[in-house]
Amino acid sequence: MNRRNFVTWFGLGGLVSFLSTAIAACSNGTKAGQSTTSAADGMATKLQSGEFVKIGTAQTLKQDGRILFKDANTSALVLGDPNNPSRAWAVKPVCTHKGCAVDWSADESKILCPCHGSTFKPDGTVIKGPATKPLERYEAKIEGDAILVKIS
Ligand code: FES
Repeated sequence: MNRRNFVTWFGLGGLVSFLSTAIAACSNGTKAGQSTTSAADGMATKLQSGEFVKIGTAQTLKQDGRILFKDANTSALVLGDPNNPSRAWAVKPVCTHKGCAVDWSADESKILCPCHGSTFKPDGTVIKGPATKPLERYEAKIEGDAILVKIS
């Protein structure tokens, strides 16, 4: 292999390595068995201020344990109430400490922040800091099989 071929192959290897790393870094962190809804799922395309929109189904909530909805501007994490199947909570999945994305941990039955370890109840109340403020809450309701969320 001459110098030119070596440089070409080395460059290609570097490009492939960079792209795979970049794609992994752009993933949304969804774990196996958990889904993120979007317009592609036939639900609302975005959360509407002051208006309930369908962001998922009760069946999905029961199956996955949570619904994470994302649009271009905001997101909502919907969790069911194990003591009341007709009730759901919706919070903005952004930590009130320094703004990291939070998500539901079915194993620990709480919302976890991966950055500095804050934990929250399904209704967004702080269990453990450093966060001191609850997660921003949205209105949520279950109508039939529809999960409806309204941001203020
Ligand atoms: Fe969540 Fe710091 S950003 S604990």
